[in-house]
Amino acid sequence: MKNILFIAPPAAGKGTQSSLIEKEYHLPHISTGDLLRNASVEDSELGSYIREILSSGALVRDDIIYDLLKKRITEADCQQGYILDGFPRNVEQAEKYDEMLQELKQQLGYVIVLEIPENILAKRVTGRRICENCGAVYNLNTETEQPQQESTCDRCQGRLLQRNDDNIESFRHRYQVYMEKTKPLLDYYRQKGVLYVINGEGTVEEVHQRILAVLKGEAKHD
Ligand code: AP5
Repeated sequence: MKNILFIAPPAAGKGTQSSLIEKEYHLPHISTGDLLRNASVEDSELGSYIREILSSGALVRDDIIYDLLKKRITEADCQQGYILDGFPRNVEQAEKYDEMLQELKQQLGYVIVLEIPENILAKRVTGRRICENCGAVYNLNTETEQPQQESTCDRCQGRLLQRNDDNIESFRHRYQVYMEKTKPLLDYYRQKGVLYVINGEGTVEEVHQRILAVLKGEAKHD
């Protein structure tokens, strides 16, 4: 299986869709946001730097991302392909990633972009809740994604928490960073003939089906 790379603005459904593909295709799901959130709990200068940047909505320094990513994609479970969610976020990262792939003798694979209007993203971001125990993701603002009880996980009864950066101020900054730094990557990957732009609106299942069409070779690249 080829690698799958998701590019999309905050709360567009990268994590949700990556988890579905992970189950179906048995590929590891690598979220640079999750790698950073794990590193942020460390009681160190690095942990404190990452915490501060995450809550502001800015991008973490490229060298930190490269170290975390390279370590992860060279692990044994990534040798048959992986799903990358949240990387690259700017052209410098994309160029560095090309170098990494060359070094590892791997192909880029599919680059899938989820397109979705800002007002829907704002609604998804403020409604997102995550189980502190099993990581299940819910949304209070979307009927089909709501938990049965507002603060309890349906699957494991764990407590549902809100991410520090899931507030409207941080969202606005993340969205602006996406438009300025990440969106130019669409041209970068379009020129390589690996870009698939998908409509990210609709139910989780509808978006999933559009992605499956790409992976089954039923969609044309942009
Ligand atoms: P990251 O964790 O990647 O955050 P993000 O890009 O802002 O994306 P999100 O995790 O918010 O959203 P998502 O698209 O995964 O949406 P989800 O599926 O959860 O990064 C966080 C921070 O880390 C960055 O701001 C930056 O500081 C740093 N960082 C990360 N990578 C970096 C990099 N490469 N370089 C530098 N810094 C980096 O869905 C959202 C909600 O919507 C959920 O509640 C879900 O249930 C719901 N939902 C999903 N799909 C649907 C649907 N179809 N209909 C209705 N509801 C839906």
